[in-house]
Amino acid sequence: MNERRRALEILRRIERESAFASLLLTNDSGFVRTLVLGVLRWRSRLDFVIDSFAKSKIEPEIRDILRLGALQLLFMRVAPHAAVGETVALVPLRARGFVNAILRKISKGAPEPADVATRNAHPQWLIDRWTRVYGAERAAKIAAANQELSYPDAMTDSPPPAATRSELVPGMWKLTGSSADVEGFALDEGSGVIADIAAAAGNDVLDLAAAPGGKSLVMRVRGARVVSNDISIARLRPLIGKSSIVVSDGRQPPFARPFQVVLLDAPCSATGTIRKNPEIKWRLREDDLASFAALQKQLLVSALDLASETVVYSTCSLEPEENDAVVDDVLRTRTDFVRGDVAKLVNANVARWVENGVLRLTPEAGTDGFTAHILRKK
Ligand SMILES: C[S@@+](CC[C@H](N)C(=O)[O-])C[C@H]1O[C@@H](n2cnc3c(N)ncnc32)[C@H](O)[C@@H]1O
Repeated sequence: MNERRRALEILRRIERESAFASLLLTNDSGFVRTLVLGVLRWRSRLDFVIDSFAKSKIEPEIRDILRLGALQLLFMRVAPHAAVGETVALVPLRARGFVNAILRKISKGAPEPADVATRNAHPQWLIDRWTRVYGAERAAKIAAANQELSYPDAMTDSPPPAATRSELVPGMWKLTGSSADVEGFALDEGSGVIADIAAAAGNDVLDLAAAPGGKSLVMRVRGARVVSNDISIARLRPLIGKSSIVVSDGRQPPFARPFQVVLLDAPCSATGTIRKNPEIKWRLREDDLASFAALQKQLLVSALDLASETVVYSTCSLEPEENDAVVDDVLRTRTDFVRGDVAKLVNANVARWVENGVLRLTPEAGTDGFTAHILRKK
């Protein structure tokens, strides 16, 4: 199928079915991926440009086609005549003249948005909340970092062909292209940081929400004995034969003995992973944070019950409701645990991202964003 048409079809499905781009794009060419992820990454900025030229209401499919065209003209090195001509060919006849006229105008020059949210194509409410939590300067850096292309990182003994050494995680490499030919296993560098914190806390570890398993694998490389639990057997599949696997709801775990360390890398809003999953920023509602927090608290209570020394509580969310507030709330009744200091468990490069004992790794580090707390049994 025509690659632009395929990209359009995937964008329509993501919108209609709330599907995840990364799951739909498994067998597609680099060009289709770039188109789909680029439209999701730049959506509100593309709309800002489109709406500056189009004064009438635009139906959703035509808007997606205009976004594809504007993306090629503004953010990809596609020759303008090809970007316009090939994109207009996707348009139903009745709207061809309209789309053609707008794309030709965009090809001659587009306005620059003045505000941080539109310039970096984020919803205003996310910029507002990151400004409250991290300050205006860091909020703008987080948003800008989310707009950078990112590749998976890899844990491997032999240096991959196109890669630089991770400064945060020993033995990890930051790839500058696809991970297809890499030995070892792929995971985000930020995930490696979390695994190293848990492995530094002890070598008898329960990974309570472990799938798909990157952190379990890093902890094993560090010499820990790891039990990998998750509620989803399907998501645990990559760990089969590589770790001890248990399938259970972490709120009612079947374990008869405590573990020295419990890592709870909890299900969350994933606002730290927007650079890889740009659709999250358009789909998430501020109200959703409360429902994640409710599950996170239940899982954290369970993690405390299972730990004889240390709990590492991490999320790939940058939001305090899913991190600090969860820990504060649970510690109000669980006086058998106190907050520990992440800085004591990490190397100097990671320690730069620790504030008052809490890891706040944000995407301008060149990683996915992670927050991590340490809880110690009294
Ligand atoms: C952020 S992901 C974990 C990523 C994993 N630690 C890794 O590094 O590959 C959260 C996981 O929590 C699992 N999960 C959700 N609800 C759960 C529950 N009640 N008990 C156990 N696991 C749960 C999900 O299936 C998902 O795999």
